[in-house]
Amino acid sequence: MKISVIGCGYLGAVHAAAMASIGHDVVGIDLDPDKIASLSAGEAPFFEPGLPEILKQGVASGRLRFTTDMSEARGAAVHFVGVGTPQKKDGYAADLTYVNAAFAELAPYLSSGDIVAGKSTVPVGTAATLTPIVESAGATLVWNPEFLREGFAVKDTIDPDRLVVGVPAGDAGETAADVLREVYAPAVAKGTPFLVTDLATSELVKVAANAFLATKISFINAMAEIAEATGADVTQLAEAIGHDVRIGRRFLGAGIGFGGGCLPKDIRAFAARAEELGRGESVGFLREVDAINLRRRERAVTLVLDALDRDVVGKRITVLGAAFKPHSDDIRDSPALDVAVRLRGLGADVVVTDPQAIENARRQHPQLTYVEDRDEALRGADAVILVTEWDEYRRDLSPEHASSLTVGRVIVDGRNGLDAAAWRAAGWTYVGMGRP
Ligand code: UGA
Repeated sequence: MKISVIGCGYLGAVHAAAMASIGHDVVGIDLDPDKIASLSAGEAPFFEPGLPEILKQGVASGRLRFTTDMSEARGAAVHFVGVGTPQKKDGYAADLTYVNAAFAELAPYLSSGDIVAGKSTVPVGTAATLTPIVESAGATLVWNPEFLREGFAVKDTIDPDRLVVGVPAGDAGETAADVLREVYAPAVAKGTPFLVTDLATSELVKVAANAFLATKISFINAMAEIAEATGADVTQLAEAIGHDVRIGRRFLGAGIGFGGGCLPKDIRAFAARAEELGRGESVGFLREVDAINLRRRERAVTLVLDALDRDVVGKRITVLGAAFKPHSDDIRDSPALDVAVRLRGLGADVVVTDPQAIENARRQHPQLTYVEDRDEALRGADAVILVTEWDEYRRDLSPEHASSLTVGRVIVDGRNGLDAAAWRAAGWTYVGMGRP
């Protein structure tokens, strides 16, 4: 099928390459000429395992190309729109500038019978406002939210755990749902749940899912705060409640909390949209979710301070991690960097290391010192804090090896990922989050 993908950021670039990899003829369109040049050369502009391979294959096969020219969307049967919806500069709501611009620019190239599938995460009600622009070209607007996780984006796109398509009522909607079934034929053939809803529900599914995940993380971090006041261990608590299949162990990892380009801005935009709808109190708890999350960053800083007898001025502190989570070079709203910046603000001599995210981190926080090599970063440290649980730090760094590099013997485990007993046995002061 001929497909266009408008917006070649994280979502769009992966989507375009994934659609080509399952046999479609795809054109990816973005305003940024640098991004287009890199994608056209088969190079991923960001770190995402598996993406370079399918990009190269797609470009080599002739089924995948990228352009800055919107007119090349003409002739595609399905147009996916996956542009960004960042948080507004002056508030919590989502900034829909890019979505509105993408639809306005695409409209002249739509033909009767085309399908436009919105993929961006948008406030509920957005699709309804965009429908007239699409329908006036004789095309049909559907909403097809994306649930990919960074680090697993290729797998999540080609083989998702569910597909959701919001369609308008009537024949046009039913036909559009059938076309989307064809687009996702390999996943549909595998029996992947394919849910057809109305437009508003599909928009809500996306933000509800992210709100639930954020709430789950903040729930366990709230328990960590209680554990800290009582001497209990939140990691044991998470394991114990996680065995209840109704609760489930996943996303009960207590620590410095969630970041990234999705969860933080999505819960804020959801709360803002609910206010506009006169239903602010229905999701008022999301403000608490946000507040608990941000408190954990401060808590991590306090733990470092306490472990160093509240004297960090001039102390060398190695920060293991900069990305908002492992398997990603994304530093958007990264709790790891937030902690590093706060420690530096207190006068510490902060050294940050990360296997993938240093370049991005340096651009945003040039005031921090970055060292690529993990061991070099650890050399001479008075204290260490693990903030992104890359295997290089969580699994592969033994306390004995760390002891051969550092001066001090203090480790704060911001992700509760280390073997506390092993570090203590090696003579370290191990400090977890929500653990005695
Ligand atoms: C999230 C959702 O998981 C995806 O389903 C969704 O498609 C995506 O947002 C999106 O809206 O595009 P992502 O931002 O890639 O995906 O990252 P997650 O794996 O959800 O992790 C988010 C943050 O939560 C990370 O900072 C991670 O370290 C933190 N986290 C995760 C915890 O603090 N504890 C946990 O137990 C799990």
